[in-house]
Amino acid sequence: MIKTAVTEMFGVKYPIICGSMMWLCRPELCAAVSEGGGLGNLTCGNYETEDELKSAISRVRELTGKPFMLGVTLMPSVRVTPEMNRMYLRVAAEEKVAGMEISGMPLDMAFGKEALTALKHAGVRVFHKVGCLKHGIHAQKAGYDGVYCLGFEAGGHPYKDNVGTIVLTPRMVDALDIPVVTVGGIADGRAMAAALALGAQGIMMASRFLTTRECPVHDNIKQELIKRNEADTVIFGGKGLGMQGRALKNGLVEKIQNIEDGGGGLEELFPLISGERIKNAWEKGLVDDAPFMVGQCIGHIHEIMTCKEVLETVCRDAQKHLSRANTLFQKDQQGTSAEP
Ligand SMILES: Cc1cc2nc3c(=O)[nH]c(=O)nc-3n(C[C@H](O)[C@H](O)[C@H](O)COP(=O)(O)O)c2cc1C
Repeated sequence: MIKTAVTEMFGVKYPIICGSMMWLCRPELCAAVSEGGGLGNLTCGNYETEDELKSAISRVRELTGKPFMLGVTLMPSVRVTPEMNRMYLRVAAEEKVAGMEISGMPLDMAFGKEALTALKHAGVRVFHKVGCLKHGIHAQKAGYDGVYCLGFEAGGHPYKDNVGTIVLTPRMVDALDIPVVTVGGIADGRAMAAALALGAQGIMMASRFLTTRECPVHDNIKQELIKRNEADTVIFGGKGLGMQGRALKNGLVEKIQNIEDGGGGLEELFPLISGERIKNAWEKGLVDDAPFMVGQCIGHIHEIMTCKEVLETVCRDAQKHLSRANTLFQKDQQGTSAEP
């Protein structure tokens, strides 16, 4: 059994949270993570209307009685409008979901302090995903319940400072009183053990859940991710799109990079990065047809499991690796060898 600020706050068995994943964090995956003992994520950008979002929430609740959270991404988007984001926040409060992951702009800056207050009054625990210490300090001052501390290894959009998880986590832990959850580069028990040793109260994983049985990704892509390693992701988008992303190396991302290097902009790039294209490629298993936002930790993913198996294995191995590391000190002090 493990007890941290995160297990206590959300009433979950494991301090393991699924990160937002556009097109993929829908009710089945969200419920499977929560039912397996972690905190599942229903990513709001998948839903255009209030009815759609509410019926997705109902579907999660049909599949599990356990807590889950909503993910809202406050980044420039052609599809998700500020009105949609306001609707997501209102529905989260009305439905009294256990938690929210806010990424991109902080809520108070995007929609005013009252946006955060309304969620907190409804009992929703709100964490901001931040990639630098300054943003973590802002989140604490603004009244967030915790931070997801995002390192450069992460899939999706690592912050432009390019600071890795192992350096950033203790910086946040030292500076903040609110719980810090480490994000980026974590796919197994060793990495969870490291995050806990750095002072985190839990971990967030996204890429690790891509190869779970419940993830709505075509098997071609699951198999491709298993074959690839830690050197098979690339940072792109900083020049032509104005925001960097980490994706699987493939023909399409190479094409995007060539356009960026040639000075091309959004008009030329948009057809290659459109949401419909990405959704279609995940579903049909078109390995070379879209930018797949995955993290360096794909080098640690070797098999397809259920979400429950992933959660159990990662947490059990974390304990095993922490115990093993601890015996090194015992051996040193006592001069005898202790079995892990
Ligand atoms: C396929 C995929 C889609 C993602 N979509 C989003 C998103 O819509 N919003 C967001 O804030 N982060 C998104 N992310 C980032 C994750 O929530 C998380 O921060 C990151 O992947 C963690 O690093 P890891 O992949 O090493 O676990 C996505 C990640 C992946 C792998």
